[in-house]
Amino acid sequence: MSSGRSFYVTTPIFYVNDAPHIGHAYTEVAADMLARWHRQSGDDTWSLTGTDEHGEKILRTATANGTTPQEWADKLVRESWIPLLETIDISNDDFIRTTDERHEKNVQVFLQKLYDDGFIYSGEYSGLYCVGCEEFKPESEVVDGTGEFAGQKVCAIHSKPLERLEEKNYFFRMSDFSQRLLDLYEQNPEFVQPESARNEVIQFVRQGLNDLSISRSSFDWGVKVPWDDSHVVYVWFDALLNYITAVGYGQDDATFESRWPGMHLVGKDILRFHAVIWPAMLMAAGLPVPHRVFGHGWLLVGGEKMSKSKLTGIAPHEITDTFGSDAFRYYFMSAIHFGQDGSFSWEDLSARYQAELANGFGNLASRTLAMITRYYDGVVPAPAEYTEADLNVQRVVAEAVANADAAIEKIALHESLAAIWTVVEELNGYITVQEPWALAKDEANRERLNTVLYTVAEGLRALAVVLSPTIPKATTKLWTALGVEDSLGALTAQPIRSAGVWGQLVPGTTVGALEALFPRIETTNAE
Ligand code: ME8
Ligand code: MG
Repeated sequence: MSSGRSFYVTTPIFYVNDAPHIGHAYTEVAADMLARWHRQSGDDTWSLTGTDEHGEKILRTATANGTTPQEWADKLVRESWIPLLETIDISNDDFIRTTDERHEKNVQVFLQKLYDDGFIYSGEYSGLYCVGCEEFKPESEVVDGTGEFAGQKVCAIHSKPLERLEEKNYFFRMSDFSQRLLDLYEQNPEFVQPESARNEVIQFVRQGLNDLSISRSSFDWGVKVPWDDSHVVYVWFDALLNYITAVGYGQDDATFESRWPGMHLVGKDILRFHAVIWPAMLMAAGLPVPHRVFGHGWLLVGGEKMSKSKLTGIAPHEITDTFGSDAFRYYFMSAIHFGQDGSFSWEDLSARYQAELANGFGNLASRTLAMITRYYDGVVPAPAEYTEADLNVQRVVAEAVANADAAIEKIALHESLAAIWTVVEELNGYITVQEPWALAKDEANRERLNTVLYTVAEGLRALAVVLSPTIPKATTKLWTALGVEDSLGALTAQPIRSAGVWGQLVPGTTVGALEALFPRIETTNAE
């Protein structure tokens, strides 16, 4: 069912120094919502996630835990990062590890090409390095430490001391690319999004870029530099390449050309790597730059970025164990303006779960099916003549689908859900006004009741289709209960962009019972 349009979306590949928290899950869900939306639109979709396993940070963590970095990475991937995907119901097409042979080999291919083409030279470097960021820090991001680190220079992000490194390294001639990058941002305003991120990146590149140190020789946990095996490749240079090695760069040109370029979803903490270093690397290699880099905001705890290193992480399963994966997905995608920071709280999650998912959507679905069962023995009635109120429902549905799709195009995920929710509200209001239970009391109103219940059931059909990328489990249950598998096919096969075309639900369809999609939750231990 390919429409010929290709859509390739990636998440960052996460460091395996620790287990995931809800910040990582946030990016995963956003990418998954996009991937599912595009897949269900018939676009030739590919979604990639994975893990970043080389570098000093992982080496030190493994050593501190009395093991080798490879064993440590294997354990974290197996016990934490792969299970995360199931916990939050991610439908990724691939999972890349930077220790995969397909990756390591082609990092060397890429590097060798840049070396042969004169983009790499050897030099001396001295600078303040943050192992947490795996980055040399410019003066502007170095601050004075406090507490146990008083008197020392610390990283503004990690609040931990920086280390002075002096090494002979290989350098990438990134300074050559300042103007070409500025031209790119200028000519393609969509390249870095949202707007605030774009401005920040332009501001940074306007100051002029330095060449980038891309190798380390003081430890050996990494990809060997192909012409000098006393060096390993700088972990970020290695990691960024995952986006192309995963789709065949260096070994499967046909696949590579059909997928690349893709779009990257990242947190704003790593925007510069993706919007400056990465396109410069690609330009040097003569490869197309990404379609888009979207830097989303941070989940905050007490006003600060939730993080592994500051021990403020909440494990995703703490939420899904109680609320389920659908509620996790819906909550983070709807409650936070995508692109801005957002604070998580149990109170807000519980309140929205109850109001929006349980009372708003879940209840709408179960009472509609219950009425069709009670008044029509479960057989969807054929609508009679439509009144203005019914036609209005149809308009709201059509507009919501169009608006939701337009919002997805600009990666405004919250806006897409807000558009869809106008249908939930419209249908609930419609039922209140039409009072089907009152109509059912008098046989003379039978035709009107037919139309009202058909209208609500058909609205639910559309809702199931457009909500499927966000709450796949609940909508699958609803789809089954609507009894439309035979007439319309599987839920995930419903073309999402035409979900608003009225009248797809076939009268005469037999619906089934529907358990509560979002059951009441006792929130005693979810404080
Ligand atoms: O940076 N709020 O990996 P990482 C929202 N390996 N998102 C958050 C978050 C928060 N509080 N905390 C983390 C790395 N994230 C590199 C990436 S890519 C070639 C290499 C998410 O494990 C967000 O996507 O530190 C952020 O950019 C990412 O996790 C950083 O993950
Ligand atoms: Mg980080």
